[in-house]
Amino acid sequence: MTYQEIRKKFLDFFEKQGHKIMPSSLLIPEDQSVLFTSAGMQQFKKYYLDSTSPCGNRVSSIQKCLRTVDINEVGDESHLTFFEMLGNFSFNFPEGEASYFKEEAIRFGYELIVKDFNIPLERIKISVFRGDLKNNVPEDRESLEIWKSFGISEDRIFFGDIKDNFWGPTGSNGPCGPTTEIHIDGIEIWNIVFNEYLSDVSRDGLLNGSAKLLPLRRKGVDTGMGLERLILVLQNQESVFETDLFIPIITELRGKNLYDYKSNQRSERIIADHLKASVFVISDGVMPSNIERGYILRRLIRKIMRHSEKLNLPQDFLQRSLETIINIYKEYYPELNKNKEKILNIFNEEFQKFGKALDKGTKEFEKGIIEFKSNGIIPGPYAFNIQQSMGVTFDIMEDIAKGKGMKIDIDGFKEEEKKHKEISKISQEKKFRR
Ligand code: GLY
Repeated sequence: MTYQEIRKKFLDFFEKQGHKIMPSSLLIPEDQSVLFTSAGMQQFKKYYLDSTSPCGNRVSSIQKCLRTVDINEVGDESHLTFFEMLGNFSFNFPEGEASYFKEEAIRFGYELIVKDFNIPLERIKISVFRGDLKNNVPEDRESLEIWKSFGISEDRIFFGDIKDNFWGPTGSNGPCGPTTEIHIDGIEIWNIVFNEYLSDVSRDGLLNGSAKLLPLRRKGVDTGMGLERLILVLQNQESVFETDLFIPIITELRGKNLYDYKSNQRSERIIADHLKASVFVISDGVMPSNIERGYILRRLIRKIMRHSEKLNLPQDFLQRSLETIINIYKEYYPELNKNKEKILNIFNEEFQKFGKALDKGTKEFEKGIIEFKSNGIIPGPYAFNIQQSMGVTFDIMEDIAKGKGMKIDIDGFKEEEKKHKEISKISQEKKFRR
């Protein structure tokens, strides 16, 4: 099944089940407590709380998302920074018309995966929430029983703790709740969240039991299934990069036979993922800068620079890859085509402005860290200085260090960064007073 067919099958299924299909929101969320949209529920967050959804109590979407927490894992089989999330959502349970909760949410998951996508039961495992005493949330026996009623045997169901089977809130507060997850061949595919609580402190508070969890007046369902992972499973591939969502990009990079694929797999995967992420981020209105969203974009682009240099890719690879990415997504995100010129110009500018300095800085860092080889720890101030003077971002240095079996002293790095911020604040204030 192609990626186009898989998307369509998902949306058709939920449309048939009475869901209104909603377009993806931008990567820059309305909810300003997070930098980027990282889950399908974000545009609907308020409908779990006090507002009433103008589109009814059943909606479904395919949401573009960006997550950078695992940025240094990109290059393995399944981690990505940009991905799309398939989701179905229910609000206002039990009073709301057509709203649903555990029974139907699990039935939809079961029917779509087992009946429509034909995944055999022996490839499937299910997790449910074990309960958490610190936060006073009980074990989710109800979900376990529902799964069993669909013929999932108990030996395929396991209990997970608050780290793995409790989701949300996004940002520092909002709806959250226990989850049940569908795993296929050991990969987590679909997270079904039962929003039953409102948390008014950050996730750290939840994990150490100091969050205040208030029961929500109206319950809801929020699900997220990674499109790329679903395609990986349905196309029986070893990694997301071998699915038809990535093959054209990888083929494009390999086009001129400029590098050895086997020994450079990680670099080409990083380029493919980060290019896609940057294209979408720029298209949604972010410009490279040294703060917040713009800095994340800059970090992504610098990693593309570093790895494309490693693979000897000629500069026109940018234009060709951009066209390939637009071709894959233009049907779903027509804005990419409209913004093509702008996207290409921004890439080219960044490459021209920083390419040489980055290359020089990277080499200097590689040479400089030899003296720290014996204890394997690179002092924070040393790394910070390279970042400031040569524009080599932390992830790039971390990546180089890792490749040599070394580590950067992250506390020392942060300490130095803090000092630097204070100094520049003071000098800004002085300038202002003048
Ligand atoms: N909102 C559910 C998820 O992102 O997994």
